[in-house]
Amino acid sequence: MNQIIETILNHRSIRKYEDKPLTDEQIEVIVRSAQAAATSSYVQAYTIIGIKDKEKKKKLAELAGNQPYVEKNGHLLIFCADLHRHQLVAEMENVDVSQALETTECFMIALIDAALAAQNAALAAESMGLGICYIGGIRNKLVEVSELLQIPIHVIPLFGMTIGYPVHNSDKKPRLPFEHVYHEDTYQSNSSTLKAQLEEYNKTIKQYYAERTHGKRQDTWTSQMADKFSEPKRLYMKDYVQNQGFNKK
Ligand SMILES: Cc1cc2nc3c(=O)[nH]c(=O)nc-3n(C[C@H](O)[C@H](O)[C@H](O)COP(=O)(O)O)c2cc1C
Repeated sequence: MNQIIETILNHRSIRKYEDKPLTDEQIEVIVRSAQAAATSSYVQAYTIIGIKDKEKKKKLAELAGNQPYVEKNGHLLIFCADLHRHQLVAEMENVDVSQALETTECFMIALIDAALAAQNAALAAESMGLGICYIGGIRNKLVEVSELLQIPIHVIPLFGMTIGYPVHNSDKKPRLPFEHVYHEDTYQSNSSTLKAQLEEYNKTIKQYYAERTHGKRQDTWTSQMADKFSEPKRLYMKDYVQNQGFNKK
């Protein structure tokens, strides 16, 4: 196994960091690594906002559901889907792109590009001995987050990423069984096979939580997912996304 694969397989989210800011050089390496990711048709439909202002970090931590590590970390990045610059391109090239930018396809391009860039950033940081945690919690309150960060039309903050020196390594969370995730040639939709694999996975997860909480936590993966999806959340999102000029046709 090479070092890159070791880094990838060693991932775990880190939620407690030393009080030690990243240097500008470290930030630049991480952002340049993000930018090196492949991008749909060279569109590069994302922007990364680094948050250094302490008050802004504090406010973002609150908006993200009072997650303390959003305030206390080595650096905080906000990954945004961004087609704003393509509107500028239209002005520079004297063409009308407004119809194209509003399509679901362009929305998907921007989401995919931003996610690929983010995961490159995560791996770069982890390869430097730093820890990371993605912060989807900012989507609890995107209107307020957008105001705070002065987000223009055609830009959507998607998630944050805390980065820093880990205080301790958290435990590695077991993933779904390989066969459950990797199908060959066609989608394998045999329900009883898939459910049997999930039952097996539940046993692993139950044991994982029991060991880490001295038996206090008993939940399984399917119970967590049932809880998460038992009711729709963040229902303001459709309007917010469309108001930002995305996913309208
Ligand atoms: C897009 C995204 C958003 C996330 N948002 C949060 C968050 O707001 N707070 C948090 O503590 N963890 C968050 N996470 C981390 C996940 O909970 C974590 O990756 C998952 O439970 C698996 O654990 P692991 O990363 O330690 O392997 C997020 C992860 C992703 C990919």
